[in-house]
Amino acid sequence: MSKKIDQITINEKLTVALNIKVKELYTLLQDAAKGYKNIAFASSLGAEDMVLHHAIFQSQALINIFSLDTGRLPNQTYELIDKVRNKYSQSIQIYFPDAQLIENYVTKNGINAFYNSLELRKDCCKIRKVEPLKRALKGKDAWITGLRSAQSQTRDTLEIKAFDDTHQIDKINPLAEWSESEVWAYIKINDVPYNSLHDQFYPSIGCAPCTRAISPGEDIRAGRWWWENPENKECGLHIKD
Ligand code: ADX
Ligand code: SF4
Repeated sequence: MSKKIDQITINEKLTVALNIKVKELYTLLQDAAKGYKNIAFASSLGAEDMVLHHAIFQSQALINIFSLDTGRLPNQTYELIDKVRNKYSQSIQIYFPDAQLIENYVTKNGINAFYNSLELRKDCCKIRKVEPLKRALKGKDAWITGLRSAQSQTRDTLEIKAFDDTHQIDKINPLAEWSESEVWAYIKINDVPYNSLHDQFYPSIGCAPCTRAISPGEDIRAGRWWWENPENKECGLHIKD
């Protein structure tokens, strides 16, 4: 199986476009770090988020980083968290779900109840992701994500910066206008670590039981909640994007 990184051809056109975007990205991160008192980057350790880890390190922007550990992440994601700690000496604040909420949900519905209905799937995401995100964003005046507008039909109106009505703070999506090729070219050129699942046809990675590999030609989010319709494929972290 060829590695994801080997599939990227870096031609002159891509290099020119990427150089401009990288400069803008570093400036955006530095300005955001200066402009907000308490800004944080939400990292899922996906490919886009790895670009941001590296860019924050390179630009020396003072930005806190946190990750939501749902308790159901694939082991490859945990391995990557360790790699990031070692490579960048970045401290990543980890948020776990509320134990009582999980205990109640699992006792009542079962450990894998998210397969049974959309409602139960959304409830699980609410407990394991949305509620911890609320805690992570408490006291922050802005947050950064690795969202891209081309990722899905639910994200096609995404802007680089917008007011997040749900959390009542600014939300910055520095990679909103980046293409998937640009993300991977940046990873390749800069030798950025990435989740080994990407080499096994997992372009988008979330919780292990709700993520699977895709087939050639399938949409990049086809492996996420694959049993649901495309318009439902959001976990609630980005409900209005
Ligand atoms: S999801 O809504 O389908 O799960 P996706 O995996 O595409 O989101 O990630 C989009 C962005 O949401 C990431 O770049 C990251 O900023 C944020 N995010 C998603 N999952 C997490 C997580 N577990 N911890 C922190 N941030 C996350
Ligand atoms: Fe639960 Fe699946 Fe959502 Fe993870 S992605 S929080 S396991 S429903």
